[in-house]
Amino acid sequence: MKPILLLLLSISLISCADKESDSGDPDAGLPISEKVNKLLAQMTLDEKIGQMTQVNKSNLLKESDIRDYYLGSILSGGGVAPPNRRATGWADMVDRFQGYALQTRLKIPILYGIDAVHGNNNVLDAVIFPHNIGLGATRDAALVERVAKITAEEVAGAGIHWTFAPCIAVPQDERWGRTYEGFGEMPDLVNELGAASVRGLQGTTLTSKTSVLACAKHFVADGGTQNGKDQGDVILDEETIRTIHLSPYDGAIGAGVQTVMASYSSINGQKMHGSAYWLTSVLKNEKKFDGLLVSDWAAIRQLPGSNDDQITNSINAGLDIIMLPDNYKEFISALKNLVETNKIPITRIDDAVRRILTVKYRLGLWEKTKTERSLTGTVGSDAHRLVAREAVRKSLVVLKNDNNILPLSKSRSSILLTGSHGDNIGYQSGGWTMEWQGGSGPITKGTTVYKAIQKVVGENSVYFIEDGTEVTAFQLAIVVIGEEPYAEGAGDRTDLSLKSSDVAMIKSFKTNKIPVVLILMSGRPLIISNIIDDCDAIIAAWLPGSEGDGVTDILFGDYKPTGKLPHTWPASMSQIPVNGPSNGISVQFPYGYGLTW
Ligand code: GLC
Repeated sequence: MKPILLLLLSISLISCADKESDSGDPDAGLPISEKVNKLLAQMTLDEKIGQMTQVNKSNLLKESDIRDYYLGSILSGGGVAPPNRRATGWADMVDRFQGYALQTRLKIPILYGIDAVHGNNNVLDAVIFPHNIGLGATRDAALVERVAKITAEEVAGAGIHWTFAPCIAVPQDERWGRTYEGFGEMPDLVNELGAASVRGLQGTTLTSKTSVLACAKHFVADGGTQNGKDQGDVILDEETIRTIHLSPYDGAIGAGVQTVMASYSSINGQKMHGSAYWLTSVLKNEKKFDGLLVSDWAAIRQLPGSNDDQITNSINAGLDIIMLPDNYKEFISALKNLVETNKIPITRIDDAVRRILTVKYRLGLWEKTKTERSLTGTVGSDAHRLVAREAVRKSLVVLKNDNNILPLSKSRSSILLTGSHGDNIGYQSGGWTMEWQGGSGPITKGTTVYKAIQKVVGENSVYFIEDGTEVTAFQLAIVVIGEEPYAEGAGDRTDLSLKSSDVAMIKSFKTNKIPVVLILMSGRPLIISNIIDDCDAIIAAWLPGSEGDGVTDILFGDYKPTGKLPHTWPASMSQIPVNGPSNGISVQFPYGYGLTW
């Protein structure tokens, strides 16, 4: 053979080998759009429908169904986890699932999705960051981006590719159980911090090992329902919806968010999951969102009509992946029939699958079919916890500080620490922590406020008595109370008053002339007008997560407080909803309020 031919042959072999060797993607060198079209052209209807199907891990009848039904995505709903809940157990599980996907004819990898909404909060001993309402109080977009970047590393370290975060709701009525999942009541703040979160999660290059898919949710106006009812109806004109609730999607899309989740809620009586106007005309066409749109958990089943109507209307409205979470065989069979009988045009199916494949290629999923184990060991690291501690510090809002009782002296002794949230990691983390609804006690690694105070003043200078009522022989009482964990509709309230037992305890200290420093751990402003005069200092700590040291950093003056209210603080339930800096009502504290020293 002539030398030149030999040379050309060897170059082509090397280049093929390079393509094969540097990725599981046989078309590694092609532009993504060409790869997508090439793959799509090979796909059967069954394979296309499988890509659009997302199943909850614990609803898999057999793990091999991932292969046999060509499933495109698996998720863990809140609290759904492998037996070994540490990062290694998660990574082993996802890698095993991926193995089934790679046994399919076309070897299209699955996306594994999870609600890592304040750290990778399903993984044992992962760092738990403040919930978004606390991040909103920091007003620090760069910090939010760093928090999200660490979250991405702790998600990727567990083998997971996709988090259903950030929630960019703009909660307008604090009776809503998901208020704490939003950054605040003003769209500009949500826009800025939502975009920062997307940048942190997805990184500058999506193919990076530390990048995961972000998900802007819940599209659109989830935070604007009547009376704050979860999954309720938004009764507003379109201009108001656009101004308050749609505008944060400009930031998220501008930051390159690759997935959006539709909202359970309705707008003027129409379920969002069936609205072609909002999902396709506005989100995909007007806002030029070119990623994939995923439904919420079993949300299509809330649509009117038969099972077939629900599938037809949600997919024709623009949903690309259906988060089932169960009965996937029935769904797949029904969807196939609906396409074959032209109720759902094949062009809509191809558009959905094209979006799904595009996002998978953008993520570099073919090069991520095994967990990057070097990240697994960083889950819950001290370095990550230091950033969470900074986030806690910057999230605290000092609402009252009479006679400059704060900061406390580190040489203080005879401190009474009291209250339900004083020594409870579960309570200081809130919902979406290890379990969907959160939990109580040492549910994961972290530092309670009690342990943090002990570290500052010494174990013999602080005494934790959960119910401090009638306790007298102390020079100071630090009272840590608030809301017990909840998630979603379980957190809907008609009354945000403090527990009467907590009110009685605070007033007993006043009677006994013991100064009170009140620390509130809650997913939203609470009604405190009946005890505000009984406290010398009041700090809103929101739901700080695992790093209680961030609270004592402020309490004992190592750092000055900088937090500002992300919500107007109502003085009574009758004032709710009350939003915006100039609302004219004599609220307890206005939006943006926060003391320092
Ligand atoms: C839930 C929530 C959504 C979450 C999804 C998966 O019902 O509405 O925020 O991402 O289901 O857990």
